[in-house]
Amino acid sequence: MATILSIETSCDETATAIVNNRKVLSSIVSSQIDLHKEYGGVVPELASRKHLETINICLDRALIESGLSWSDIDAIAATSAPGLVGALLVGVTTAKTLSLIYNKPFLGVHHLEGHIYAAYLDQPDLKPPFLCLLVSGGHTSMIYVKDCGNYEVLGKTRDDAAGEAFDKVARLLKLGYPGGPIIDKLAQTGNPQAFKLPEGRISLPEGGYHPYDSSFSGLKTAVLRLVQKLETEGEIPVADIAASFQSTVAKALTKRAIKSALDYGLKTITVGGGVAANSGLRQHLLAVAAEHEIQVYFPPLKLCTDNAAMIGCAAAEHFDRGHRSDLDLEASSRMNIADVMQLYPKITMT
Ligand code: KG4
Ligand code: ZN
Repeated sequence: MATILSIETSCDETATAIVNNRKVLSSIVSSQIDLHKEYGGVVPELASRKHLETINICLDRALIESGLSWSDIDAIAATSAPGLVGALLVGVTTAKTLSLIYNKPFLGVHHLEGHIYAAYLDQPDLKPPFLCLLVSGGHTSMIYVKDCGNYEVLGKTRDDAAGEAFDKVARLLKLGYPGGPIIDKLAQTGNPQAFKLPEGRISLPEGGYHPYDSSFSGLKTAVLRLVQKLETEGEIPVADIAASFQSTVAKALTKRAIKSALDYGLKTITVGGGVAANSGLRQHLLAVAAEHEIQVYFPPLKLCTDNAAMIGCAAAEHFDRGHRSDLDLEASSRMNIADVMQLYPKITMT
């Protein structure tokens, strides 16, 4: 039952947390949304500088809110891949420095493994095997979770990630950034059947469609064409477009997640990443999974988007298994989740 101080700085949130195994003792998230909003997306250089300004304040707050002191902490963890390399570097360097100062083990954490672990924070009894539908701003993946550190990617997006599609469609509807939560809210007042949009299937050379992979760029283009057509006809029914788009994404993701779970004999699906907060996806996936007697678990709403509690939760399990990272571990912009054990070249049995 390890107590971990964790840091997440892979994109535009500076986050720190203290977790004891699956229990969150404190979770601080300082969002940079206001900083990047005027550019319509994250500006990497601005993100790194802001992390640097904010990280120490977030660390102090995580300790104060948990009521713990440095002597209570067993190890220090930080997201080390994948993400914006300059942004990751702030978290990784901070964690390594603290590890040296306080003489505590250091663990690098794969960002997507963190998103998988977010579902554990509400489900103390959840254990593999299960399917994780990971839907964030950068990824859309069906991951077969076999064990801690043992993952097989069954399907992924061929182009835009689900969250990216939400952000791009919101931008073309001139709704603001980030698009997911805005479209989600607006969709609740619109008609999801107002417009029929393409689901984005991937054709196979031998005929038929890929069962698990998805594509969202065609859907985004279809919304663009629809908006251009409607613009010539008068006022654009923004809520109906938002609802139709959201329902198409929810159906596409649900179909692939259920198919993967059934094909691999998995009775549990968890969802992770920012789009796991989407109300349309939550409702549709729960309803279809119930028809197949599949159990679905979502992370608590505020732990769907980037946070450090999920990173600490993943690190706690690795720590208990004796996994340790080297202090020369570097931040990497890319890393396949199947290679996550490369982060832990040492096994320490205590
Ligand atoms: O997991 P996350 O915080 O960052 C990445 O690792 O990418 O996900 C951010 C993404 C953004 O694209 C955002 O628009 C989307 O998650 N998002 C949502 C919702 N809340 C956040 N998408 C749909 N519905 C939501 N309620
Ligand atoms: Zn994320």
